Amino acid sequence: MHVLTILDHPDPKSFSSAVAGQFCAGAESLGHTTELVDLHAEGFDPRWSMEDVEGDASGRVPPDIKAEQDRIARADAIGFVFPLFWWGMPAMTKGWVDRVWSWGWAYDQLEDPNKSLQKPRTGVLLVPAGARSDEMDEKGYTSALETAWIAGTFGYFGFASRELILLNGSKGSDARRKALLDRAYQAGATLKAPD
Ligand SMILES: Cc1cc2nc3c(=O)[nH]c(=O)nc-3n(C[C@H](O)[C@H](O)[C@H](O)COP(=O)(O)O)c2cc1C
Repeated sequence: MHVLTILDHPDPKSFSSAVAGQFCAGAESLGHTTELVDLHAEGFDPRWSMEDVEGDASGRVPPDIKAEQDRIARADAIGFVFPLFWWGMPAMTKGWVDRVWSWGWAYDQLEDPNKSLQKPRTGVLLVPAGARSDEMDEKGYTSALETAWIAGTFGYFGFASRELILLNGSKGSDARRKALLDRAYQAGATLKAPD
């Protein structure tokens, strides 16, 4: 398979960057080809603009968006790596989803709001989070994210199998962080082909 990884972190030495590296290494251990999209290093512009509005209407997407869509077209699986910010996505990832998954390319909501125009792909979200998992479960954040992202956003895009892997305690001890990095490697090394 060809595995695309979308990384959202400005610091190449960050934990999130290490998570993306481990995920790619795991995928490569299975013989998959990988491509890393480092959104900050590449200077992706996450702002949804008039160009995007006009692109939705005309079907001519802006050139930076076309480049991202071409990358997706080559991929059988996509991994997303972004830190949990305010119980949601950081602005860069949010803007990438808003802009790249454009109307008429990702969806045709006039016919069926739940029907993707995309082929099925495998989707994995690797999300470092400062909070502990029991805190998140207890307060309902984990189930809220499962609903919004797995049932919602990533389901609408047509990911056949899709998994949210919360890397809780990402600011914890070295041992904790090592275990989370191993989890990211395993996620790459156990990737399944789309259904
Ligand atoms: C602006 C901001 C918002 C954050 N919001 C949350 C949050 O809502 N829940 C949480 O568990 N951690 C939150 N955190 C902690 C980050 O998830 C944590 O710092 C990150 O996973 C560490 O990864 P990094 O070392 O790659 O930055 C937040 C951090 C920042 C900077």
